[in-house]
Amino acid sequence: MIMDGNGRWATAHGLSRSAGHEAGLRTAREIVEAAVREQVGTLTLYAFSSDNWKRPTAEVTALMRLFRRAMLGEAKRCLENGVRLTILGRRDRLPASLRQTVDQVESLTASCTRMHLRVAVDYSARDAILRAAAAVRGEVISREHFTELLARVDQDDIPAREVDLVVRTGGEQRLSDFLLWECAYAELLFVEKMWPEFDADDLAEAMADFRSRNRRYGLAPEQVAS
Ligand code: IPE
Ligand code: IPE
Ligand code: MG
Repeated sequence: MIMDGNGRWATAHGLSRSAGHEAGLRTAREIVEAAVREQVGTLTLYAFSSDNWKRPTAEVTALMRLFRRAMLGEAKRCLENGVRLTILGRRDRLPASLRQTVDQVESLTASCTRMHLRVAVDYSARDAILRAAAAVRGEVISREHFTELLARVDQDDIPAREVDLVVRTGGEQRLSDFLLWECAYAELLFVEKMWPEFDADDLAEAMADFRSRNRRYGLAPEQVAS
């Protein structure tokens, strides 16, 4: 999920951008629970891109505080729902207090198996690709091996999974440096609604849309039908 549109939603309602992010957190909670009900295996929420560091300091600070509060608040709920929570992205640039909270929540929920919730924070697909490529050192390796290296540079699960469906709210039709390698054959869905307006029904609709698609991975249609 590319959770876009918090700021525009807030401005349209005469609120601060930070209030928009607060509203976005409420949506994230609802969508996580809905995804568990929809039997999603792995849900990745794009919460903060590496390029988002370039935003005004006040907004960045407010977001980092919000992430920490969200992690602390959601830990128990994740545990109850069988949700394993991890973050995806660089950890070394996060505030120490947030990093500590992330460590705690990750170990607390480590044995949960109903759904894996990954929150992408300080995430950049291109940076991850560059770091993984540096580890290859000119060797010729398989796609699968490279996917593993990519997961490793962001301390993600190994083996990493390909993305099935990307949903981006907020009306923009782009990936903004999200899981570029893993999205090679992902289905893309762009939704006009701003993230704070997105709800469980919208998720169900997105899932139904996904199920109706034909994925061919380069094959001819008749090869896939058989
Ligand atoms: C997405 O909402 C959340 C983050 C990037 C943190 P935005 O903050 O990008 O909202 P818009 O796109 O400005 O409306
Ligand atoms: C992408 O949204 C990142 C997140 C949703 C966290 P942005 O709002 O940062 O993306 P651009 O700038 O519109 O491409
Ligand atoms: Mg945006």
